[in-house]
Amino acid sequence: MTIRFAFFTDTHHFPGAPHDFGAPKMLTRSKEVLDILPSVINAGNFDFVVHGGDVVCGGSSFNIPNETFVRSLEEAAATFEKITTPFYSVPGNHDCDADSWTYDQYSEHFSVHSPITLVDVAPQLRLALTNVFYEVDVKENGSGLWTDAMDESLRQAAARASQDQCALILILHSWILPSGDGNIGLISKAKRLRQTIEDCPCISMVFTGHRHMNRITAHNDYLVIDTACLIGFPLGYREVILSENGSFTTHFHTLKLPKLIQDSRNRSTDTENRIWEGKLSDRNTKIAIPRLKKIWTESTD
Ligand SMILES: [Fe+2]
Ligand SMILES: [Fe+2]
Repeated sequence: MTIRFAFFTDTHHFPGAPHDFGAPKMLTRSKEVLDILPSVINAGNFDFVVHGGDVVCGGSSFNIPNETFVRSLEEAAATFEKITTPFYSVPGNHDCDADSWTYDQYSEHFSVHSPITLVDVAPQLRLALTNVFYEVDVKENGSGLWTDAMDESLRQAAARASQDQCALILILHSWILPSGDGNIGLISKAKRLRQTIEDCPCISMVFTGHRHMNRITAHNDYLVIDTACLIGFPLGYREVILSENGSFTTHFHTLKLPKLIQDSRNRSTDTENRIWEGKLSDRNTKIAIPRLKKIWTESTD
């Protein structure tokens, strides 16, 4: 059994953006990315695809007019409808409405999850799609909060997954592991979330976006996979291959938009660009996940 999927995140669509905003973002050219994305993903023939949030540019940071925000959601949703493989997403902090800071307009096109939706995406593989901004004031907390309801819901989901001999992949927008530069992008109550993951051995992988950086961390016996954005350098998506022996393989593919990628690259220093794209092993690697091997091996004994 081999499962192949794509993970991409932070498309930040903003039709008619007045400027590019902070590097590596290239907001004035978000349509170029959306235009090429469906054909690239469809050609990959994946089992399913996941968007890690920040589809658009809501909230206050980008001063987007509300009518443009509505249009951005419509255009992004129409783009993802062209993807022929099953498509899943989680909300990001910039998917909230431009004025009201709610997810009302986003929910007309995308699932908001309340707070966790479980999806069987392949034999013995289940996604836990999590909205870390559920019942949280995103204006006050742009990296979300791990709440009591989420914790209880994830623990229940993990118990069921273990009974079903199913591996669980947690998908959320914000980071769960600290970075060397402080707690930027880290979900509030991250320590509690990590303890819950620790206690639930069927949770084999965690995928996040939000910080626009590639990073892969083998944390104890599970894997945390942070992925760079699709709105600037290195401007790509992850292909992930899971094998029945519990191995995880990933290849980071840049989109064929060389001019756009170079223009984004030129906005940052080499040192900064190395941080956005991560080390080679943050982009392309093969790692055994002990938890994945255990749950899949046990189920076939
Ligand atoms: Fe983002
Ligand atoms: Fe974000």
